[in-house]
Amino acid sequence: MVGLPARGEGSEPFPKELASADAATGGVLKGAWERREFHGKRREISVFHRPADGGRVVLIGLGPREAVSADGVRRAAAEVVKGLRGKGARTAGFALRSFVGPAVDAPAAVRALTDGTILGGYEFLQYKPSREPGIEEATLFTGGVTTRALEAALAEQRTIAETVLWAREIANLPADTASPERLAEEARRLGSELGLKVTVFDEKALGEMGCGGLLAVGGGSDHPPRMIVLEYPGKPGVRGSGTTVALVGKGITFDSGGISIKDAVHMSDMKFDKSGAVAVLGAMRAASLLGVGPHVVGVMCCAENVPSGRSYRPGDIVRTFNGKTIEVLNTDAEGRVVLADGLGYAVRTHQPDVLIDIATLTGAEVVALGDDTAGLITKDQALARELLAASAVTGEPLWRMPLTDYHRELVRSDVADVRNSLEIPLAGMLTAAAFLETFVDGTRWAHLDIAGPAYTTITTRRYQPAYQNIGATAFGVRLFTRYLQDGVGRTG
Ligand code: BES
Ligand code: MN
Ligand code: ZN
Repeated sequence: MVGLPARGEGSEPFPKELASADAATGGVLKGAWERREFHGKRREISVFHRPADGGRVVLIGLGPREAVSADGVRRAAAEVVKGLRGKGARTAGFALRSFVGPAVDAPAAVRALTDGTILGGYEFLQYKPSREPGIEEATLFTGGVTTRALEAALAEQRTIAETVLWAREIANLPADTASPERLAEEARRLGSELGLKVTVFDEKALGEMGCGGLLAVGGGSDHPPRMIVLEYPGKPGVRGSGTTVALVGKGITFDSGGISIKDAVHMSDMKFDKSGAVAVLGAMRAASLLGVGPHVVGVMCCAENVPSGRSYRPGDIVRTFNGKTIEVLNTDAEGRVVLADGLGYAVRTHQPDVLIDIATLTGAEVVALGDDTAGLITKDQALARELLAASAVTGEPLWRMPLTDYHRELVRSDVADVRNSLEIPLAGMLTAAAFLETFVDGTRWAHLDIAGPAYTTITTRRYQPAYQNIGATAFGVRLFTRYLQDGVGRTG
């Protein structure tokens, strides 16, 4: 597999730096270049046969060399892996040099190719065998320069990408299987494998702690709620050590809307409403496997939101972990109600230096930003910079959105500290953030609304599963991992 940057209109000589890539293709690359059979336009793909042995050579256009981005490489690699499924190929080789450009150095190209091949090859197969077998092994041809930095980048990115697949396997489980207790089992299993401390609060413990939010939202279900807390101790001497980061995820295993029930169209998508909690679980796994510096506390707020005689109702007033009260006006605005307990718990119990929540929180996020980009809301400039920097590296796009007194005023209640919805739809993503802010007690905090990118319908990023093949992306796992590795406190 060779990525060829676009050539100009003139008759430029074949670029020297692609000589080793050309050798790997048995001269096919140079021949195609010279005969102008391939132009390197973005998304252009051609298959040639190596004269010596008939081996297939796939040329993938990356567009003008200056425009080659890590995400372009990620997409190209995924395109290849997807394209070769069912074509009898079991192994693939990538000519590394050809994926390097002014904006993508060799380690970044290694990481992007690793992401693209591993993430792009993913299928959810627990209930159905693969349609067609695909690539089982990929090799990177580095043209003789196998430096330790490249080896390290490959090993590390492989761990991260495999953790994304591990998280997708959980996020894709339907709600009949992925109950709150099942998510707790996954966390316990991970904890015993990696030596992480895992605490599971069941409905009785939640009652004693005063977690009225989780109990209210989970009250209607036969599968009782759980708050799951994982703790990674941090690693002295590694960047970010000495800081505590708390990650809090929304883990609604199914969101029917409850008494304020949703209509039937796309209700099945709401099995993905646990994606925030699963992103936290995945981040804990990668952080621990890579040995990041910061002390990390992961909190998963898990409940099933379904109607029954025991469900919470519109009009109810719920008291949460930190004593603040919520007027419930719509039982379908349940994510913020469970997060209220999780945020309050993280703040009171662990006094984190940084608190980040991640949640498939609002339909308004999808309308505003599509299924590609998450909403980022924080009033902390440094934290915004750090998260945006991580996002630029991983290709999980974030877009910063405002939070002002206007939004805070909209969630005020006459009978409780805060209300969980408005009677008219106004800035739904932002009023949700204003609600959450009530529970962070002045801690440095950022909110990520991943309602769009948690699962995709018509993504253009082919390393994410898409429509016919709708599925969880595990958005946030790579972002959090990158942030925990090199972002924490760097610009703060
Ligand atoms: N889980 C949904 C948000 C969602 C919608 C996620 C679409 C992914 C795709 C959330 O619990 C919800 O129902 N939010 C309501 C809030 C409203 C009632 C204030 C919404 O956005 O409509
Ligand atoms: Mn809902
Ligand atoms: Zn929800």
